[in-house]
Amino acid sequence: MVVIRGATTIAEDNAEEIRKAVKELLLQIESRNGISRDEVVSMVFSSTSDIHSFYPAKAAREAGFESSALFSAQEPEIDGGLKLCIRVMLFVEKNITPRHVYLGGAKVLRKDLSGKMNIAIDGPAGSGKSTVAKALAKEYSILYLDTGAMYRACALKALDKGTNLDSEEEICELMRDLRLTVEYENGMQKTVLDGKDVSEEIRQPRVSMAASTVSKYLSVRLRMAEKQREVASNMSCVLDGRDIGTFVLPDADFKFFLTASPQVRANRRFDELTAKGYTVNYEELKDEIIRRDEQDSTREIAPLKQAEDAVRIDTSEMTIAQVIAEMKRRIQEKI
Ligand code: DC
Repeated sequence: MVVIRGATTIAEDNAEEIRKAVKELLLQIESRNGISRDEVVSMVFSSTSDIHSFYPAKAAREAGFESSALFSAQEPEIDGGLKLCIRVMLFVEKNITPRHVYLGGAKVLRKDLSGKMNIAIDGPAGSGKSTVAKALAKEYSILYLDTGAMYRACALKALDKGTNLDSEEEICELMRDLRLTVEYENGMQKTVLDGKDVSEEIRQPRVSMAASTVSKYLSVRLRMAEKQREVASNMSCVLDGRDIGTFVLPDADFKFFLTASPQVRANRRFDELTAKGYTVNYEELKDEIIRRDEQDSTREIAPLKQAEDAVRIDTSEMTIAQVIAEMKRRIQEKI
């Protein structure tokens, strides 16, 4: 048995509006969940206290849901609550993952389920961005775009070609024939550079500082930001980086800025890299992280900076689960 939820709003309180809205809501729930009417054991409707003219349960019966047990109730009047809203809970005899449906003005109740949403997560290296970004993307069944991987791919190309990283002109020239795509396989991002999957190669420690250096240049940033905006405009996604909330998507629905002490961040990166089999010197790694932060936050174009409207979370003393719970709480609060 699963429970599927849904909600919609009507323009005015009259029987015709209620019939139309209930029918559309139920049709959407049926088609998005692939259920048939005889699998719906029961339906419970509630409507806001400004609805008087017709029972939503009766509208459901008229719409053909005759075999289910139907019930309508009225909600209390809540200050600031949604107006003219009908909610429903369907109890369905089927083993499926429910797809809840929010239509009309009720979309604001669950933006994560009904509309497109972009979540921007910025912060310095090792602040936990990518781990929580992946978890949130999974939680909301949306895409995760690792924007750092794109700068890393540019840097890898420059390193492999022996390009002088300090020469903006040479890097700019190199970008002319850059073929960089981001693809997805089993929900995992694959970074493809000039036709080759470089997802692992770009994680090498030598690429980190180089990525920070090439990302200073205008031609690189504009090109990457354009690609990132294209992805974000087409679908719901979580993007992590340095400038998502300030430059790439200043209108993102949710913005977070994660931080942690340099010590904690260096520890995390150390564990991550050693687990992958790299030999790393802790002090050197910490020093590199500090230098990279400095370079990322002092560059002229789109530096690493907290957006004014971003929620700041210091993750130094928090577990991953705590950070994710706090972010979900903030998202739900705003929805
Ligand atoms: O998140 P990361 O460590 O993979 O990023 C590598 C570098 O890329 C980082 O030091 C700065 C740059 N970067 C950026 O300038 N803007 C982004 N949105 C993401 C990364």
